[in-house]
Amino acid sequence: MVVVTGASGGLGSYLVEHLSVDFEVVGTYYSHMPPAIPKAVGFYRVDVTDAECVVQFVNEIAGRLQKVILINLAGISIDGMTHKMSEQVWDRVLDTNLKGAFLMSRSLLRFMREQQWGRIINFSSVVGQIGIPGTVAYSASKAGLFGLTRTMAAENASKNITVNALALGYFEVGMINVLGPETKELVRATIPMKRFGHPSDVERAVRFLIESDYITGSIINMNGGLH
Ligand SMILES: NC(=O)c1ccc[n+]([C@@H]2O[C@H](COP(=O)([O-])OP(=O)(O)OC[C@H]3O[C@@H](n4cnc5c(N)ncnc54)[C@H](OP(=O)(O)O)[C@@H]3O)[C@@H](O)[C@H]2O)c1
Repeated sequence: MVVVTGASGGLGSYLVEHLSVDFEVVGTYYSHMPPAIPKAVGFYRVDVTDAECVVQFVNEIAGRLQKVILINLAGISIDGMTHKMSEQVWDRVLDTNLKGAFLMSRSLLRFMREQQWGRIINFSSVVGQIGIPGTVAYSASKAGLFGLTRTMAAENASKNITVNALALGYFEVGMINVLGPETKELVRATIPMKRFGHPSDVERAVRFLIESDYITGSIINMNGGLH
């Protein structure tokens, strides 16, 4: 069973649709119901920042949890320079992007460890690797995912559970669309390949990590050469 958080988002809805061809997929959303997908998948409203809500969701699907693959995609980006950022915005971004991945992983690791198999794929960003002004909360949350990934990988390696992160550059769906056309062009110009990534690139990487038994604690950069 593949559990995709952020299934209503640009990357999430693509992954749910394409992975559901080969896997039983359950998706979570928060404020937008995901588009209907022909293959039978379940969608659940889950606030990943809320520990009780996460536990309740996992209890609801517990009977179906076999060969669990967790894809931690839920995330938000709220820009702001450090000296002007409110504590509320900082907390909201960190809670969604970092604590959310921790809470989902914590609940599902119980099943993975019992079954001695599992996969966790965290979605980080190039923004957590380089300094981009105005992204302090997002950048810190995505850099935090590197530590979460490596530590959970070490803790669970002996149980055949792999934990990896994809550090994405800029993709043509999802979050990028909050930018206006001119800003998008400026961003595109910074990418050595001069184009945004396609969600099929992400799907290929996800399938590769699902198939790979011996890759764990790795950060895979997918950014068109942007460093
Ligand atoms: N697209 C890119 O270029 C890019 C680049 C680097 C990294 N990433 C990372 O990839 C992931 C997906 O990105 P995307 O572009 O697909 O983003 P997106 O279209 O903005 O989707 C974000 C998803 O997160 C969900 N979400 C937000 N707050 C939540 C909460 N409190 N509880 C549960 N779910 C919540 C949203 O649900 P609702 O809409 O239902 O509220 C939505 O499904 C994010 O973690 C992002 O940081 C994306």
